[in-house]
Amino acid sequence: MSWTKVLATEALSPGTRQVVKVGKRNILLLNHENQLYAVENTCPHLKLPLKSGKIADGAIVCPFHRSAFDLRTGAVTNWCPWPPGVGKLLSMVSQANALPVFPLRVEEGNIWIDVQEE
Ligand code: FES
Repeated sequence: MSWTKVLATEALSPGTRQVVKVGKRNILLLNHENQLYAVENTCPHLKLPLKSGKIADGAIVCPFHRSAFDLRTGAVTNWCPWPPGVGKLLSMVSQANALPVFPLRVEEGNIWIDVQEE
């Protein structure tokens, strides 16, 4: 385990997001319905940022080609469905890889995440 203190809990109020850097990784912290999540901010498809992606059915949806990843496990729930027709071709550019997610805990008013370096 390699726990790193990344943010004061009060800086991540319900409905907000923050990107923090831990080593070489950009980690997206989300407070969705009072549940905290820590996921890689880089979409596994074309390495574009996920920060502005909406959340639907417990998954974050990439704002670019709408791949979706379960917030708890990072599992792919939809791979590159957008835009219609072209999405199928774009889906072949890279494998349907899961989104890295990170263990998170709150202690003494701070958010800690466990990030293993690549
Ligand atoms: S960059 Fe995220 S789905 Fe293409």
